[in-house]
Amino acid sequence: MDASLSERLLPWYREHGRDLAFRRSRDPYAILVSEVLLQRTRVASGLPYYERFLARFPTVGDLARATGEEVLKAWEGLGFYGRARNLHRTAKAIVADHDGEVPRRSAELRTLPGIGDYTAGAVASIAFGERVPAVDGNAARVLARVFRLGGDVSRGDARRRLMAIASRLVPEGDPGAFNQALMELGATVCRPKAPRCPACPIREGCGAYADGEPDAYPRFRARARVPVVRVAFALAERDGKVLLVRRPAAGLLAGMWGLPGGELPPRRSEAAVLRGFLRDLGLTARTIGVAGPVEHAFSHRRWQGTVYRVKASGSARLPEGAIWATALDLLRLPIVPFHRRFLEARGPPTVGPPSPG
Ligand code: ADE
Repeated sequence: MDASLSERLLPWYREHGRDLAFRRSRDPYAILVSEVLLQRTRVASGLPYYERFLARFPTVGDLARATGEEVLKAWEGLGFYGRARNLHRTAKAIVADHDGEVPRRSAELRTLPGIGDYTAGAVASIAFGERVPAVDGNAARVLARVFRLGGDVSRGDARRRLMAIASRLVPEGDPGAFNQALMELGATVCRPKAPRCPACPIREGCGAYADGEPDAYPRFRARARVPVVRVAFALAERDGKVLLVRRPAAGLLAGMWGLPGGELPPRRSEAAVLRGFLRDLGLTARTIGVAGPVEHAFSHRRWQGTVYRVKASGSARLPEGAIWATALDLLRLPIVPFHRRFLEARGPPTVGPPSPG
């Protein structure tokens, strides 16, 4: 199957591969951006971000010079914000240590912040033609089915077997096209459920197809249940402005701006915890109503709780990392997306000069 796999896959890809903006670029920086952005994000959701991100930061130097807040702002709504922070650090490292040129070899790419095997392989093969694999979840599913790979191919020995097979399959000719063809086949034909086997160019020679059970692969180990954590946030308004705090530099939603509040320690009441959050900002809080429920799933925990309307009184001067935000601030700052809903539901805010900070 080995050589004939790429011989059958590449013509299929040339004919059926989607004409996506990032496939038209030969710029290694643009390819790097697209591959980081598309990790854990579907192509359809990621594409508008890709275009906007490159319009905002057209070169690696532009990205390196940006502030962390500007980069987070461009990423707002995409989730997994650690990717944006790492991409920013990577741009700075490319400027500082590589003369502003994206490294050509996967081994060198892997030394950059947040660049793992997948991204290094994708950039090296697509931008520079290095013969290395790039196996995302879609490609892994295709290979697991073709080669009847049991076990959880996302980790451990099963992953190593998968990568050994992928390394062998990548052709000299156009490794980038081959890697993308495998991903494309997984995304559009060899889908997780109801794969479209009659449309598959490599069904002859596919183990799972021959067995008549394509969706028996891959087998992922059952994920641990995601814990549900109670949260409460405060929506406090004053003179048409709303109280926002910058989240800590590490952890969930790091560096983004949001409503004051967060996870509730066990057995503490929501009102008491919110009073504590506002007291830390020099404010006295009184709950005056409910703005609505919040429910947000991260990859490893789920937040469930409530946004309360709060009357906050006290000092007009807030500590660093907290502001009374104007409408302009809401436009320019990276804001927790599931808080933005509440900010926008308040009705037309007044436009004033931006707050310092
Ligand atoms: N997912 C991430 N990168 C991709 C690519 N280059 N082609 C297809 N799917 C992808």
